Amino acid sequence: MALTSLWHDRHPREEPVPPAIAGDWDVVVVGAGLTGLTTAGLLARAGKSVLVIEARYVGAGTTGGSTAKVSLVQGTHYSKIDRRHPASVLREYADANAEGLAWLVRFCDEHGVDHQRRPSYTYATTPQGHRSVLAELEAMHKAGLEKATLDEDLDLPFPTTGAVRMDDQVQLDPVELVGALAADARTHGVVIAEGARVLRVHGHGPSRVVTEAGDAGAQTVVIATNMPMLDRGAFFARAEPARSYSLAYRTPGRAVDGMYLSADQPSRSLRDAPGDVLLVGGDGHKVGANTSERQHLDKLRAWTAEYFPGAEETHAWSAQDYLPHHALPYAGPILPGVGGILVAGGYSKWGLTNGVAASLALAGRILHGHQPWAAAYQPWSTHELRGLPGSLKLNAEVAVEMTTGWARKLAGSDEAPVCTHLGGVLRWNDAEESWDCPLHGSRFAPDGAVLEGPATCPLRNKTA
Ligand SMILES: Cc1cc2nc3c(=O)[nH]c(=O)nc-3n(C[C@H](O)[C@H](O)[C@H](O)COP(=O)(O)OP(=O)(O)OC[C@H]3O[C@@H](n4cnc5c(N)ncnc54)[C@H](O)[C@@H]3O)c2cc1C
Ligand code: FES
Repeated sequence: MALTSLWHDRHPREEPVPPAIAGDWDVVVVGAGLTGLTTAGLLARAGKSVLVIEARYVGAGTTGGSTAKVSLVQGTHYSKIDRRHPASVLREYADANAEGLAWLVRFCDEHGVDHQRRPSYTYATTPQGHRSVLAELEAMHKAGLEKATLDEDLDLPFPTTGAVRMDDQVQLDPVELVGALAADARTHGVVIAEGARVLRVHGHGPSRVVTEAGDAGAQTVVIATNMPMLDRGAFFARAEPARSYSLAYRTPGRAVDGMYLSADQPSRSLRDAPGDVLLVGGDGHKVGANTSERQHLDKLRAWTAEYFPGAEETHAWSAQDYLPHHALPYAGPILPGVGGILVAGGYSKWGLTNGVAASLALAGRILHGHQPWAAAYQPWSTHELRGLPGSLKLNAEVAVEMTTGWARKLAGSDEAPVCTHLGGVLRWNDAEESWDCPLHGSRFAPDGAVLEGPATCPLRNKTA
């Protein structure tokens, strides 16, 4: 079954023909999602020569599969940060997201990108969820988001036990947004080369960026591939790759009056889209988990049928993001002291605001500007050490996964091929028909082509 996001269906694209990559640039940005394009535009406006290299096409990654709530209400993420970091870091995180939101809304207003204002909620359906909602409200207030309130009277077709609410948040079509970011970047001189995968980066400050379609020189390289495709820095060992599902429905009138995400598990996300469309999301799990992806989608379908019986399914899709153990995104040097290669990512499914904030932080770093909140995004800071126990636990799980995967393979109990990143044994994804790696989230098409994740080479035994 081909799964296509509502957004990609609304803005269909041909697979691009890879151009010849050449020349010397102030900055080469790898990845044309929200982060890469925002960073490229900011730098080009400041006079830098910028080349963006994209393996597939603009918006082909997580951005094009996003639910695209541009929201300061973020599930139970503030309480997660609050449990791990001092109040000053929590406030910096909220300030960064507020600036990301404001920047994005200004960009949409100035470039005619359709967006809608909606209240945004984290809602509960159980007593435990209610406690999470109260903790989230407290953490949001501690973060300086005084406009967050408790709402106990939600207009939803199932019983709820209260919600955190903030008005005046935003929802949009992420593929329309990245199309506008790409067009704006081009008017400022950015060259966007689609269909060329970056394989390696040699040296730093300056670097040589090696792709399938030629090499380019850069004073600074920005890796905006969601999970960095370079192993230097081992960012893949500090975050869990998490995949979840989305369904779009035609509804008789607007089905929900806001953007909703449950505090309880399994998560359930709701929003509308223009044209009386209802989006339902959730049922996430670790990429390549030992479950049937099709069953996750079916569970989401059954839930929607129960509570929105008149809704008619039009689209189903899936996407993944990375959840760092220290619960904060990163935007900065790939290694301490290596200012010539910068990375950004780890947005924990809140990349619409965090991706813009990360871009502002990176552009500020390159242009010698300063954002007071950018310290919260610093890789290699003491914040990251606070995620060490989580990283150690995940890496222990990765080691078990590695061992059992190989034991399974050696016993011949399945025919799974091997990931070209670091040798994880892949699992078949029965909903999207892809080979998915449970170690760090690389995914491959049935013919072996890389779809996403840190891998850069196709499956050897699958290509012609
Ligand atoms: C199901 C789901 C729902 C979400 N909903 C929301 C939401 O409602 N609100 C919110 O704020 N956030 C949400 N997010 C998170 C948000 O969508 C992402 O964090 C954000 O889009 C990431 O943008 P990005 O540009 O960093 O990465 P991407 O959009 O993934 O862009 C990275 C690009 O790099 C390219 N690339 C990768 N490797 C290479 C290579 N080797 N060479 C060249 N190019 C390469 C990819 O093809 C891709 O186009 C959601 C995420 C998921 C999974
Ligand atoms: S993604 Fe790292 S081993 Fe597969």
